[in-house]
Formats: sequence, structure tokens, C-alpha cells
Amino acid sequence: MNLALDIADLKEIARRRVPKMFFDYADSGAWTESTYRANEEDFQKIKFRQRVLVDMAGRSLESTMIGEKVSMPVALAPTGLTGMQHADGEILAAQAAEEFNVPFTLSTMSICSIEDVAAGTKKPFWFQLYVMRDKDFVLNLIDRAKVANCSALVLTLDLQILGQRHKDVRNGLTAPPRMTLPNIVNMALRPEWCLSMLRTKRRTFGNIVGHAKGVEDLSSLTSWTNEQFDPTLSWKDVEWIKERWGGKLILKGILDPEDARLAAETGADAIIVSNHGGRQLDGAPSSISVLPKIVDAVGDRIEIHIDSGIRSGQDVLRALCLGAKGTYIGRPFLYGLGAMGKKGVKLTLDIIRKELDITLALCGKRLISEAGPELLYRD
Ligand SMILES: Cc1cc2nc3c(=O)[nH]c(=O)nc-3n(C[C@H](O)[C@H](O)[C@H](O)COP(=O)(O)O)c2cc1C
Repeated sequence: MNLALDIADLKEIARRRVPKMFFDYADSGAWTESTYRANEEDFQKIKFRQRVLVDMAGRSLESTMIGEKVSMPVALAPTGLTGMQHADGEILAAQAAEEFNVPFTLSTMSICSIEDVAAGTKKPFWFQLYVMRDKDFVLNLIDRAKVANCSALVLTLDLQILGQRHKDVRNGLTAPPRMTLPNIVNMALRPEWCLSMLRTKRRTFGNIVGHAKGVEDLSSLTSWTNEQFDPTLSWKDVEWIKERWGGKLILKGILDPEDARLAAETGADAIIVSNHGGRQLDGAPSSISVLPKIVDAVGDRIEIHIDSGIRSGQDVLRALCLGAKGTYIGRPFLYGLGAMGKKGVKLTLDIIRKELDITLALCGKRLISEAGPELLYRD
């Protein structure tokens, strides 16, 4: 049964189609996964005000994110190893986003490279940067994103050190997977995934292999990534990165009003309120629970986006009502991709669009710009 009506349905199809190691890589959070769970649970606590007999004709979800027109304010979040959920996953997801007219963000840790995605799309996409110790490599990545005509740089701030996800350790996660007996058995049960992977040449980190000094094959790559995330990254680094990039800059991973103030001072174009989908600091609050405090602190100074825990168009509306101008989905599009490739990513976006549209209408509004706290129920 492949009829998917919501993101939970897509997740179950992906579970059957994607090798366990990569499905688990998406469906996991750090340590006890308490923040991962809270991200979703806290959205459910926010209730809408049902309004009736309001003219619902002529509805529109069109908006802007950092000045770019979007068909709805929902971007695809940067996710590593997306090309392992489905062969050529980053190219397919970018194409789906392009057809839907929403932003796609390519991760530094992608399988398909910046150049691959640029060749497979027509409109500019966004590029997410991890700052590594090897500064030549970082400068080169920024320049490659410029040459590829990326229209925004998303600088991730919350991963100077890696949080631990137990499932990845237990599964021995690598890209491509090691040919151990459990992996071979698991993949043999997913023949479509295997066949499509055999047809592509993109099976390891496309932005890194052949570009970073001393990384020519997988064994050196593993040690390189473990050593390379720069633990000394500081607010001062934002300055030179902003300068080198020279375009729109989004700072990702803000969860505290004090950091939001520092972020606003950098002159960046937007911040993303995010706890990395519960993958970094377990025990941190959910993104949606801190959003109002951050909006209070800097809402008049910088555009505010949010991710972590959005599983429906209803969640998108909840975030917009609490002051976010844009939202991002990570796992929802990965499940769509794992379930059905590009068609599945389009289905993910379509499900979210319909849920958002109907919810807005039932709250008595026609335009997404009218989303505000008055749509939410307060005791
Ligand atoms: C499998 C996976 C890989 C991710 N890889 C990255 C990454 O490479 N860079 C990054 O900035 N964020 C990464 N993230 C975090 C996402 O950008 C985003 O913050 C998070 O997925 C949002 O939460 P959601 O999955 O609940 O929508 C990743 C998330 C997942 C699920």
C-alpha cells in the first residue's frame, strides 16, 4: 500500500525501502532523544481558534523568505547523506523544490556535489556551510557556491562538535555502507534502492572527496570529517565568512535569545531557530517553545525562520502565527525521498501545502501574511 496521506505514511514507506542504517540516520536524535521527541510534541500543544462564516475564496500561501518569492514559506533543510536515502537524492530533492517554487538547501555533507546540483537545476539553490579547520577548503567551498550561483549561504553554528546518536554508532554508519554481513542482508531486502545505487556514481561525500587535501578515498574521509569540524568557531568568524561570501547570509542553530541578539548584530539576513532536529544538545528545549522569546528579543531586527519538529502544514502555520517568517523541513522530505524519490518529495510538499491551506481557511484567513497570534487559542 503506497497511498500516503500524511508525513507519517511516507515515513513508514521509507522505512521499508531505505536500508536500516540510513533510515535510522534520519529517524534519530542525540542520546535519549528527549529533544527530538519534544520538537514534535510541543507543536501538538498549540491549538487553533476555529472561525466560521468567513469568505474563504481567493486564498494564497505565497510569501517571501529573505526577499525571495516562495509558493509557501517552507524550505528544504540541509541534510547530510541525502543521496543515501535515494540515489542522486540531492539532485532529485532540489528539482522537486524548484518545481514547487520553494528553497532547497544543499548540505556541505551531501553526496551530490554543489556542481552536480547546479547542473541538475535551473534556479539558484541555497548552500549550507560547515566551518572546517582546513580554511583553504572552506574558502574554496564558499567560492564554489558562488560560482554555482547559490542565492544564500546558510551557516550552521550548532555543530562545532558532534552530538552522539546511538543508532549511528550501533549501525556503524558509513557512506557508502561497509559490506558487512548485516548490511548485505539488509540491503538485499531493498532491491530497488540497491539497483538505483548501482546506476549512480555518487556514493560518497561529493563536496569533499577530490576537493579537500588528502581526501581521495573513504578511509581517509572518515578520519578527516571526525577531525575537521572546527571547535574554535566563534562570532568573529561570522565576519570573514560574511565578507568572503558577499551575498545573503542565514545563521542556523540559534536557540537562545542572547545568541539571537548576537546573531542580529552580525548583519545577517535571517536566523534559523533550530536545535538541529534534536540531533545535537539532548535536553535542550524544542525550537517552537523558544520561538516566542526569540521573536520578542530580535523580531524587529532580523528575519526569523525555524525548523525542528515540523511534520505538517499545521505545524508550519503554528510557527508562522508565533512570529516565524519562514520554516524548514528536514525529515519530512527525507522520508518522501526515501519512499518515492523525487515524486515523494513533491508529495511531501503537496501534503504540507494542503494542510497549511485548509488550516488557514478554517481559522478564518485567506492570506498567509495574515497568520498571527490571534489565530491561536489561549485559555
Ligand atoms: C539526516 C539529517 C541530516 C542532517 N544534516 C545536516 C547538515 O548536514 N547540516 C545542517 O546544517 N543540518 C543538518 N541537519 C539538520 C537539519 O538541517 C534541520 O535542522 C533538522 O532536520 C530540522 O528538524 P526536522 O528534521 O524535525 O524537520 C540534518 C538533519 C537530519 C535529519
